[in-house]
This record gives sequence, structure tokens and C-alpha cells, in this order.
Amino acid sequence: MSHAVGRYQFHDKPADYARLAQELGALLAGESDPIANAANTAALVFEALPEVNWAGFYFLKGGQLVVGPFQGRPACVRIALGSGVCGTAAVQRRTLVVPDVLEFPGHIACDPASRSEIVVPLIAGDARAGSLLGVLDLDSPRAARFDEADARGLESLAGLFVRSIRETSALENPA
Ligand code: SME
Repeated sequence: MSHAVGRYQFHDKPADYARLAQELGALLAGESDPIANAANTAALVFEALPEVNWAGFYFLKGGQLVVGPFQGRPACVRIALGSGVCGTAAVQRRTLVVPDVLEFPGHIACDPASRSEIVVPLIAGDARAGSLLGVLDLDSPRAARFDEADARGLESLAGLFVRSIRETSALENPA
């Protein structure tokens, strides 16, 4: 099945993220394989969002974040919890919007073109008590590319992904 990604201007971010969420829901419907759904989620987000040079996943494996399906340049494979933007968002269990990565202490530069970043934690179940699965990470070559509307929109997309992979243990123990 090929999937023609809708056209989005993101002039009205909440409305366009709502449309994108519908599109993602249809794309993930009936499938629960984590790799398949992560790959299609990363591809859809990368295709739909303007001014993004990396979009993808890091999954928690053996106490570290390990790169998963993504679109963009090859990236660093392992990130310790608490390191970089990804490891910090994972530990703090909250979305981090970084307007200028050069100002973020410990930022891990995978692509020197990246200037701003947003990282959304993936949590199965309750935000405080649920298990941390990993993070969804997006980079942009433009400073201050991401705002609170992007945070809310990407959190809803990340939530759709998390709910789609009903067998979350498959991330830790791939068959
Ligand atoms: N910049 C991230 C590392 C991952 S790459 O951006 C793909 C960080 O500081 O955690």
C-alpha cells in the first residue's frame, strides 16, 4: 500500500496537527508491530512537517536510549539517560522544546545543521507511573522552529504511536 501524505502548511498548527493525527491513526490502524509503526510514524512526520532535517525514535533498551526508525542523516546510536536533549526529556518525562541547541548544555550534535530540537517522551500508560519506552525526536535547521503548539501536536502523535503498539514488551525483546 502506498500512502500519499497530505499537504500541510501549518499556518494553523492545532488544526493541521489534528488532521495529521487522523492520517497517522489511519496509517497505524490494524498494525501493532513497533518497528513498522515507528518507521511509518517517522516517515509521515518527516514528510508532513516543514523545516525538519531529522525525525525519529530512540527506544529504551538495557537502560540506554538506542536509535530506532528515523528519517534524516545517520545519527548517534546510543544516548545515556540524562544526556543530551533526548536523555534529559526521557529522565524528566516531559517534552523539551530547545530553541537553540547551541545553548543547551550537553546537547549531542548528530548533524551540525541542526539548530533547534523538540523531544517528546514515549510513556505507556500514566504519564508519571507508566513505563518509559523511549522518545520521539525532531531536529530543525532553523532556530526556534518548534513551539508549544508543536509540543502538543507531537505529543498527540506520539500517543497514537504508543497506543498502537499493544505489545510494548516487543521493544525490549524483539522477536
Ligand atoms: N540532539 C540529540 C541527539 C539525537 S540527534 O539530534 C538525532 C540530543 O541532544 O539528545
